[in-house]
Amino acid sequence: MGKIHVIHENAAWLEPLAAALDRQGLAWADWFLDHGAFDLSRPPPEGVFYNRMSASSHTRDHRYAAELTAAVLAWLTGHGRRVVNGPRALDLEISKARQYAALEAAGIRTPRSVLVAGRERLLPAAREHFASEPVILKPNRGGKGLGVRLFRTETALATYVEGAEYEPPVDGLQLLQQYVRAPAPFITRAEFVGGRFLYAVEVDTSDGFELCPADVCAVDDAFCPAGEQPRAKFTIVDDIDPGLKDRYQALLATNDIEVAGIEFIRDAQGVAYTYDVNTNTNYNPEAEARAGRSAMDALARFLGGELAGVPRRQAAE
Ligand SMILES: Nc1ncnc2c1ncn2[C@@H]1O[C@H](COP(=O)(O)OP(=O)(O)O)[C@@H](O)[C@H]1O
Ligand SMILES: [Mg+2]
Repeated sequence: MGKIHVIHENAAWLEPLAAALDRQGLAWADWFLDHGAFDLSRPPPEGVFYNRMSASSHTRDHRYAAELTAAVLAWLTGHGRRVVNGPRALDLEISKARQYAALEAAGIRTPRSVLVAGRERLLPAAREHFASEPVILKPNRGGKGLGVRLFRTETALATYVEGAEYEPPVDGLQLLQQYVRAPAPFITRAEFVGGRFLYAVEVDTSDGFELCPADVCAVDDAFCPAGEQPRAKFTIVDDIDPGLKDRYQALLATNDIEVAGIEFIRDAQGVAYTYDVNTNTNYNPEAEARAGRSAMDALARFLGGELAGVPRRQAAE
């Protein structure tokens, strides 16, 4: 039997997947990809590869893990290896600008965004494109909501951009973005496994923009007035708008993405804006327990099926 090779750079985020793969008795190997030496003149290992490289890898001191992964994925695909979430998924994972181009090409509305290279260009660009509107500033290569900031006035933006707190973006690129005002403070993240919709999770945004659904980053249930049922930070819903779901699935098929969490927000008129495509995804265990769902089990089943489908010659190791 061959193996499922899981490419990643965050051991904590691997644990739930590792447990699900083990529960199903699947043969798998942990491929922690940050440093290494690879003989590109030789064939890569056999088996199925699942790429979970994260856009936020640089925040864990793995500055070049995404670049290394891009090179390794090219080597794997060049040899015809089955890669789940291959090079194109990584391309989108590490660039919101590329995500938005792909989303718009698939007929999916994104918030109005201005790509800015150069700290000194931020204020003039905000003035020109957003005038006195509130604006979101976010890194092109993001993750976990880090560095995503809302500025309600030009002065607030100027104070940040010119101040000591300013954080330069890791790839030199930032986005100034239309602030989508949701009537209720939540966003929706739709989860896909094997390119098909699985469920969606509504995430309470009252506490801010860092919305990682992983166990390790989940925040306690939100405050609620006495006597009312507390609304958890993460709540699973079984379905989303069918038109949006179809467009998401078409987007994933076009871009060779099989595992993803896609985030959208609705404004007061009910218009959905899609602003984040995560190809490295974790699921919220409490919300899943309440809903009796397990996306990790679905993912492990999918990977096991892919491994079983690999020709014997390739799967043998
Ligand atoms: N244009 C926007 N309008 C309103 N809220 C936004 C917008 N963009 C991001 N946010 C909020 O910030 C969070 C993090 O932004 P996101 O683009 O998903 O960055 P990351 O890739 O780091 O997760 C979102 O989940 C949402 O709550
Ligand atoms: Mg996000």
